[in-house]
Formats: sequence, C-alpha cells, structure tokens
Amino acid sequence: EKAGYKHFMAKEIAEQPIVLADAIKHMVAGNALNPPAEVDFAGVDRLTMVGCGTAYYACVVAKYWFEQIAGLPVDVDVASEFRYREPPITPNTWAIFVSQSGETADTLAALRYCRDKAAKIVAVVNVPTSSIARESDIALLIRAGVEVGVASTKAFTCQLTTLALMALKAAVDRGRLTPAELAQHIADLQALPGLVSQALRIAPEVAVIAEELAEAQDILFLGRGPLFPLAMEGALKLKEISYIHAEGYASGELKHGPIALIDARVPVIVLAPRDALFEKTVSNMQEVMARHGKVLLISDAAGVAEAGAGCWRTIAMPSVPNFLAPILYAVPAQLLAYHTAIAKGTDVDQPRNLAKSVTVE
Ligand code: F6R
Repeated sequence: EKAGYKHFMAKEIAEQPIVLADAIKHMVAGNALNPPAEVDFAGVDRLTMVGCGTAYYACVVAKYWFEQIAGLPVDVDVASEFRYREPPITPNTWAIFVSQSGETADTLAALRYCRDKAAKIVAVVNVPTSSIARESDIALLIRAGVEVGVASTKAFTCQLTTLALMALKAAVDRGRLTPAELAQHIADLQALPGLVSQALRIAPEVAVIAEELAEAQDILFLGRGPLFPLAMEGALKLKEISYIHAEGYASGELKHGPIALIDARVPVIVLAPRDALFEKTVSNMQEVMARHGKVLLISDAAGVAEAGAGCWRTIAMPSVPNFLAPILYAVPAQLLAYHTAIAKGTDVDQPRNLAKSVTVE
C-alpha cells in the first residue's frame, strides 16, 4: 500500500500534486468559487481559529491571508490553551477548527466551548465522519485522502489550500476583490499542483544537504510574514522524525534572543520567497552569516542569484505568486525533515512517543 515508496511519508509527500488538484477542483467552478452555500462571510466581524500542531500552523498562515486579503481580523490559538482560557467570543465571530483526524481531544473541546457563543462553527477536516466534522455547522473537507504517516504532510498543504480558498471567498463576500483579481487568484491556484510537482524535484539535492544536517544538534528555521508559521512547521516536522532540536522563528525576532545561539555548528534554514519582505529576511540572514552561522537559503532562482553568495547551501524553488508561497514552501520543509530522518536512520512513519491522532488531552 506504499505504492513502491519506502515510507508512507514519502508517498504522501509525492501525492500532493494530485490531492491538491482534487481539493481545488471541488471548490472552484470556472472563474468562480464554489464553496458550500452556507459559507458567506458578509456579516462576519472576526474569526477565531484553533488547532494543534501542524493544524495550528495552518491556522497561523490563514490568519495572514484572511487579514491581508479579506480585511477580516483573526484570533488564533492552540486548542489546549484556548479551551481553558475562556476567551470571550463576540457575536459575529465564526470559529474555525482545523484538524486532519477530526478527533483531537483539545480541538474538539475548544469547538464545544464555542458552540453557544460563535455565530457559526466551521470544521476544516480530512475525515468526514469525524467528531469535529459532525459537531460543526459547516464541515469543509480538505480531500487529502488517508494520511498514514504520523508526520502530517499532504494534510497540511490541503488544509492550507482549503483555507486559501476560504480567504478568497471572504474577500469576495466583503467586497475586497474584483472579479478580475479573483480570476487571477483562481488561475494561480490551478497552477499550484504543477508548481508542487516541480518543487518535488529538489528531493535529490535535499538528500545531499540532509546528510550534513543530520550531524547538527540544533537547527533554526527563519521566515517572515506567512513564512513565519512555515518556519515553525519545518522545525516541528524535523523534531518529530529526526529528533534533532529545531526551532522556527520570525526572522525579525532573531536579534531579540536566538542570535545568541548562532555559531558555525548551527544550520539556519531561511525560507525566503521573493516577496515584499525578501530584503528584510536577507538582511537577517546576513546577520547570521556575520556570526559564522551555516545558512541554507531557500528562495526562487532569482532570489538565490541575488542573495545566495556566502550561504552554506542554497535551494532554488520555482517562482510562485506571493499568496501561495506558504503552500509551495511546505515541500522543502517536508523533504528536509524526511531526508534528515533517513540519514539518521530513525523510524519515519512511526516516530517514538507520537500518535497519529491525539484523542486524550
Ligand atoms: C505534526 C502532526 C501533529 C498534528 C496534531 C493535530 O506532523 O501530525 O502535530 O498535526 O496532532 O492533529 P489533527 O490535525 O488530527 O487534529
């Protein structure tokens, strides 16, 4: 059932172009969005988004999208904190719960807390029969197919894609996008599975880099804007399956503490698509290099040409519209974790101490 792959994780990473295309096809009709009829953000004032682990990072990326594209304020929290904080929920708030399994205990408890408080409960789930899907007003399916590997890969990119489409829907409902702009975003989304296929071709390069990463004790991931949650996701994935200590930071936070960790033994992985914040991220990266940090720059070919000098390693990704960069840059994050784990010989699909679905608190 691994279809010729050595691990489910490898298979699930490779499947992404297909499952993403399927997710997009189900939510787009021609030049327009085709979400379930109840999804209308017109009277919504605020979103509160909740998840655990990778699903939480999908929520953090979505916060940037909803706020920037739709002008809709978003609160986001991990379920275990949210549920006990007793956060006030204002009447026109939609509460969105993101969960691959749909059975995560803390996320389900957070949903139940919101039940009589939020205007609508929306689930973004992979398993349609799950508790979280059943207990929501609207269940949006991410259509990733069965995910077996404990480390979430295709579910994450399908969560992001579903949330990107929701952010576009919110922007349309709130009068923030012209039909031409929407059509462009939809065309960009339809091109995404092809870009993911291209991005997967970096795997052999990543495998070589991973041999050296496997020697590290600590690894930092840096990103800005919607690539900041990707930095955290990259660090989580690496920790989970290679057992190397890793942390994701907002690039601008570097000088507020973590730069003290930098020396020639600490690889620093910089996720820097050429967006409006590229120059700022590059200047943070140069601060790392000035302290002899080993920088792996991940950008597009032009970004690598412009800023790659002096880096330990570079990876050139396909160019991607800014809006979709967090989805495409999940691919190097996944491949780095996977190949580093392979280099270390750890159990990729069943990492120690972890369960695929966390149904106890
Ligand atoms: C990370 C990972 C976990 C899950 C988290 C939430 O690779 O798999 O962090 O993302 O346990 O699980 P779901 O999405 O099923 O609620």
